[in-house]
Amino acid sequence: MPQALNFSIEIYDLIYQKMCDDLVEKSWTVMPDYFQPDLIALLNQELSTYQASNALSRAGIGRSDAFKIDDRVRGDKILWLSPKTKAQNQYLEAMESLRMALNRLLFLGLFEFESHFAVYEPGAHYQKHKDSFKGAANRILTTVTYLNDNWQDENLGFLVIYHPESDTEAARIKPEAGTLVLFLSEDIAHEVEPTARYRASIAGWFRCNASTPDAIDPLS
Ligand code: OGA
Ligand code: MN
Repeated sequence: MPQALNFSIEIYDLIYQKMCDDLVEKSWTVMPDYFQPDLIALLNQELSTYQASNALSRAGIGRSDAFKIDDRVRGDKILWLSPKTKAQNQYLEAMESLRMALNRLLFLGLFEFESHFAVYEPGAHYQKHKDSFKGAANRILTTVTYLNDNWQDENLGFLVIYHPESDTEAARIKPEAGTLVLFLSEDIAHEVEPTARYRASIAGWFRCNASTPDAIDPLS
């Protein structure tokens, strides 16, 4: 069990089961204190170094040709994770354990994981959207991990999750350090409300393998 995690193996078995039950029942789940505070602190430290050297880029919308930056849609800056540092490696190992548990319990056939740091400066938001569209992509399950200590209600910047059927608000989730959110990428519309405070997270996606003999996935 990677040190990234907060509890014993037995507790994670229960947590995995609870998250899977939620995903089956309502397509999303939230687990506070999923990650150890030490790991969150290290990830924050690395992120501030990247910030200081301007390593993050403004996130765009659309792929390749259609790519554009639009503050009205999303205002975050991102940087893709890789296992090159201890903290990022530990994070990715923890997500690998999660991937295997989800495949074991839900037969989702999750094949790989991609994730990026995301920083929202005060005033930034991400308007209501889905991370994947039916048939279009191979993002199956979205993950969001928060890095912000002591988030207060007045800091705003909540993640709003919408009911897949009624499109009404299902939950407003506080972006508090250590919390892990999972939802089905094709089913759950969601938005990041304008934040009043610097807001950092790691957004990730478990994908299925969409490779065919003449199109090796991923293309981008
Ligand atoms: C995203 C996203 C949610 C959040 O990056 O696609 O919806 O709470 N992030 O940061
Ligand atoms: Mn999203």
